[in-house]
Amino acid sequence: MKKTFIVILCFISVVSMSFIFTKADPPKYKNLKILPKDINKEQMDSVMRQFAGSLGVKCNHCHYYNQEQKSMDFASDAVKEKDIARNMMKLTAKINSKYFDVEHSKDLGAKLEVGCFTCHHGTKNPETKAPPPPPRQGAPGAAPQGARPAGADSTKH
Ligand code: HEC
Ligand code: HEC
Repeated sequence: MKKTFIVILCFISVVSMSFIFTKADPPKYKNLKILPKDINKEQMDSVMRQFAGSLGVKCNHCHYYNQEQKSMDFASDAVKEKDIARNMMKLTAKINSKYFDVEHSKDLGAKLEVGCFTCHHGTKNPETKAPPPPPRQGAPGAAPQGARPAGADSTKH
């Protein structure tokens, strides 16, 4: 009889404790100026993976690595690229709302017409100019047949 009582008591305390902990669970991000404050971990991970993938960089391109603690400090604003990224978030939201009539363009679920990848395509510094067209074969002044097109070596640095 006593044993069952203790078992029940344990059960009740475990349930109530898990309740307290799940209530306190939503991650508390410390330094959000643009993203919604109630963003959950999955949404945050997804946004950040999009950023990194769109620019072709790792998290530490925008986030500070604390050498002493040997860990990332995601809330810190020590890396200037993080603030540039905030401006880019505003720019992207505005392009969508003002020029593409996207509603609630700051919401995480918004169907954006323009995202980071639209401009960045996996690079940090998007090109402004299209590459020059290749010289036409046989055109006056064009390279003779079989010659390497001008600029063929330009990718080697
Ligand atoms: C292009 C820059 C950029 C990259 C790359 C990036 N982040 Fe972020 N991250 C930001 C910005 C900007 C914020 C702050 C957003 C705001 O102010 O609302 C942020 C905020 C965060 C936060 C919230 C910190 C807090 O407590 O306030 C976490 C966690 C985070 N990033 C994780 C990551 C992870 C993990 C990666 C790599 C997968 C990553 N980030 C890659 C720009 C970046
Ligand atoms: C309309 C086009 C456009 C969009 C959309 C855009 N960017 Fe950019 N971004 C640029 C251009 C152009 C530059 C390069 C400026 C330069 O070279 O000085 C740049 C530069 C940056 C840089 C600094 C470059 C570096 O050396 O790290 C960061 C960080 C960045 N963008 C993040 C973002 C993020 C995050 C998003 C999405 C929220 C985004 N950008 C959306 C055009 C865009």
